[in-house]
Order: sequence, then structure tokens, then C-alpha cells
Amino acid sequence: MPHSRREFLALAGKASALALVGAHLVDSPLAGTLVDGLRPLAALAAVPASLPASAPLPLPGAEGLYGLLRPEAELTLAARSVPGLLPATGAAMLAYEARQGGRLWRNPILVLQKGQEFRARLVNNLAEPTIIHWHGVDADWRQAGHPSYAVEPGGRYDYAFPITNRAGTYWYHPHPHGLTARQSYLGLASFFLVRDAEEEALSRELDLTLGATDIPIVLQDKRFDAHGGLVYAPSADDLLMGYMGTEVLANGARRPTLRASTRLYRLRLLNGCTARIFNLAFVSTQGGKRPFLLIGNDGGLLETPQRLEQLFLAPGERVELLLDLRGLRPGEELALANAPFDPMHNEGAGHGAHGAAPASAPVSATATTGGGHSGHAPQSASPQSAAPALDEGAAYSILRILVDRQERYDRTVPARLSTLPAASAPVTPGAPRRFELALDRHANRWTIAGLVFDMDAAPVVVERRAPEAWEFIGATDGMPHPMHLHGYFFRVAARRGSPRQVLQRAVDAAGRLATDLGLKDTVLVWPGETVEVVPDFGTPNYPGEQTFLLHCHNLEHEDQGMMLNVRVR
Ligand code: C2O
Ligand code: CU
Ligand code: CU
Repeated sequence: MPHSRREFLALAGKASALALVGAHLVDSPLAGTLVDGLRPLAALAAVPASLPASAPLPLPGAEGLYGLLRPEAELTLAARSVPGLLPATGAAMLAYEARQGGRLWRNPILVLQKGQEFRARLVNNLAEPTIIHWHGVDADWRQAGHPSYAVEPGGRYDYAFPITNRAGTYWYHPHPHGLTARQSYLGLASFFLVRDAEEEALSRELDLTLGATDIPIVLQDKRFDAHGGLVYAPSADDLLMGYMGTEVLANGARRPTLRASTRLYRLRLLNGCTARIFNLAFVSTQGGKRPFLLIGNDGGLLETPQRLEQLFLAPGERVELLLDLRGLRPGEELALANAPFDPMHNEGAGHGAHGAAPASAPVSATATTGGGHSGHAPQSASPQSAAPALDEGAAYSILRILVDRQERYDRTVPARLSTLPAASAPVTPGAPRRFELALDRHANRWTIAGLVFDMDAAPVVVERRAPEAWEFIGATDGMPHPMHLHGYFFRVAARRGSPRQVLQRAVDAAGRLATDLGLKDTVLVWPGETVEVVPDFGTPNYPGEQTFLLHCHNLEHEDQGMMLNVRVR
């Protein structure tokens, strides 16, 4: 077993990274270690019959967990703990519960039409404050889940706003200050899909059906206690680096199987982890990466499809992919996998021990419910840290895609998907606004421009109507930070000083990656890198003064204060 990133990288360099991933298809439930991964791939090809049966990928149905819900009138979303809900272990998880027309959803995938009015009521059935944030969705700051609007247990919050976004894969999750990571981790998160005429035409052209061949998949890593219960117990080191699970779940299931036919699939992937970054690839059991098309990201469709073999996906980011399974034969399979990369934890020595002594009492999904009792044994009785965290940069498989039937499919992907409004030139007078992302080594927390969150302060004041030039500057002796802005999308204009594993993927002279094209609300900033972005504070034109947030979407970082108010006036 590798004991350090360096050792891991040395090993990964020798063995074929792809073989490592493929071999994980045959190993046991616990997320693979490098030792398991080194099993020769040939063994796999010889014994396909011995592949373990894995649970089916939970597909969004007409109700239930992650079911599709088209809100008709005002929708009530009750945040609560639901026993037995987590597909992976049958443990309790937190979920938004909704009812409509006699049906019941948990964490519904909300499906909205551009132009419609959205009305929802949050009911807080947790034992602590909460508020919903609609990530990527255009909404006035009072509707967007600013933490100052968090409601107490038993409280409610009413939302009403028109859907003005273009079609895209947005999402929703809690945003109470200091509690965002834990509540999201314990289950509160789902998709918010917007559809419009352009997107529907593409779906018709490619014969894609939401829930069957157009599949939203939320990826989240978890830690479990001995009984399969979710445990959120970050140590001081975890708060600094991010809380890493021992396994990655897809729609709540452990390395599940998607049974597929020989056609095109659209996958909408959301990184819903608190801290884990993925380097996603589709790996065949023959040991090759199967290319795919990136067609959309945070803010909807790209102008043209981008052919890729792998992509980084950081917490908060979404991608829409087209995966072509024509040419595979029934019985053949692929894995959606994490391919090896350098997680770049350059913040210095002495922070090696993930999963060390918890900084605070562990909290489980049952312990945050209302109703007066936790019903959960003390964590000390079932140590959750027995298993080491799954190495962020290791090769491991997440989802098995098994072709089990043939289909005639002759659609072709259009060369042009959409036309984005011309990127506006920043009108910032003088130099760009600089946001340095660095560790305050005395306070042991991450800062933005030397600051940490103060609910009442507005350290960034911008004029409405104006696109600005911003620079996120990753400290060389830091770690990657996915930077997220509420309320507005931005264009990524350039990356400078990128580490080699990023620079290698640049698609233009500005150093941008394919995943930087289009409209972004979250962008990953690597150590030593400067990422230049252009948020447009003219679109949307919200009425009156606004107070949005700029924060790191590593949710441990965010909760520790790596967040600033941005006043728009
Ligand atoms: Cu998805 Cu302020 O976050
Ligand atoms: Cu957001
Ligand atoms: Cu961060």
C-alpha cells in the first residue's frame, strides 16, 4: 500500500494506469488500494464470468430518491433525516423530501422550463439551521441562499423567482455558514435541471430521454461506521485539506452498474463531494481510455463538442458528456473511473494523516435530525477511521457500464451545439482584481486576498452592469481550490503558470482547458496558477443592491471561512 503521494506516483508511473483501473472491476467492495490494482489485467479478460454482481445504478424515475420532479405549483422541500435511504448501505441520510400529486420524492431532480416561475418552500426539519442555495441558478441574493437567511429548526423559507437561465445542469444544496459541508455530505444535494427549446431540439436530434439515456449522476465520497452509517468527523487536518471518504458513490450506490445498449448516452456528472477532485475517464477492460464528447458544463451547452479522454471535475462543477457505445458488443464493458493525477497538496509537511483524531464530535445523519434524540451510538463504539481514505490521485473505478443489448442508432452529433453571447470585455479600470488563495499559517485556515468570511462585511464591491477582470492566484505552497461565485457566470479568459498536468490539456494559447469553455460558475485553481476570469455583473440585472458570495467549493474550506461577500450596487 502506498504511504505517500510520492510513492504512489512512482508506482503508478511503472504500472499502466489503465490496467490499475480495469483491475478494480474484479476486486472487492472496499475501494481499491494500489496493491489490488496491480493484479494483472489479463486475469480479468480471462474470467468475465467472475465479475461480482453490483447494484444497478439508481436511475432517476418518476418518484423516490433522485426522481424527476416537474414542479407544478408551490413545492415544499422538507430537509430531514430519512432512515434507510442511502442505496449503498441502507443507512439514514439527510434528504429534501417533496410531495406532489400523491407521489413522494427524496432529493428530487427538479426539472424546470426556462421562462417558468419557480416557487418553493423550505421546511427545516433538522436540529440545526439550514437554507437552500440554488447553485448556478439566476436568483436575487435573498432567493439564492445567502447564509444570513438560514432558518432555525422548525422554520421555513419561501422562494419565488422566474427561471431565466439557459438550459443546463445546475444543482441545489444547503448553505448555512459553518454547516454546509456536513449537511451536504450527509445527503442534502440534488440537481436543478433547466430545459429550453435549443436543448430540447438537441435531445430530439440525438434521441435522448431524461432518466433513461440522459442520466444525471451525482458523485460523492463517503466514510462509514461499522454499521454502514454515514460519518462526518473531520480532523483538524481534514478541515485544512478537505474531508476524504473511503469510497465514491454514484447516485448513492457503491460502484453500481449501468446496463446500456449500443447507442449514444448523455451523462450529466456533478461533483457533489465536499473536497475530492476527480480526473474522470472511461476505461475499457482492454485497458484503453475511450474518448467522449464534452458538450456542456456549469452554464449549459458549449458552442462545439470537445473530444476528450479525461477531465478534471472539482467539487461544485458539472459536465455534460456524450458517450458513444456503438462498436461495443453485448458483454463488453467500460468503467467510469478516476485516472491517476497529482492532487498537489503542496501546503507542506506535517499534514499527512487524514482521518486522525477528530477535531470535534463526529456527527451522523441521524444525529442532525429533529425529534429530540439522535438514536445513534457514540462513534467511539464503531471507529470509522479504520479504513484509510481513498487516495485522491489513485486509479479507481466509480461506475461500471455494461453493454447488454444491441440497438440500431444512427444519429450524429451536430458540429455546432449552441451560440454563446460574445464574451464582454472587462471594463475594470486599471489592473484586474486579484484574489490570492493562501494559507494563513497562524490561524491554520485558507484565505481569499488575506481575508476570511465575515457575515456583515463586504470586502468586494462591484458596480452592476460591468464585466470585471478577476484573477485567482493559487499559492505555490498551497493546494487546489475550486472557486465559486454566486449570482453570475464568468468566462475563463486565461490560465498562467499552470502545473504540467494542467498545461498538457490546454486547448488554446491562453492555456484554457476544454472544461473552461462556455459559462462557468466554479473554476479549479491549482497551486502556482493564476486563473483569469471575467464575471459579468450586468447579467442578470437583479433589482437593487445584491450581496452574493465568492467562496472555495472545497466545503471544509468554505465552512472554515474561505468565503467573501461580494456587494453589487
Ligand atoms: Cu454550491 Cu455557495 O455553493
Ligand atoms: Cu452557488
Ligand atoms: Cu479551498
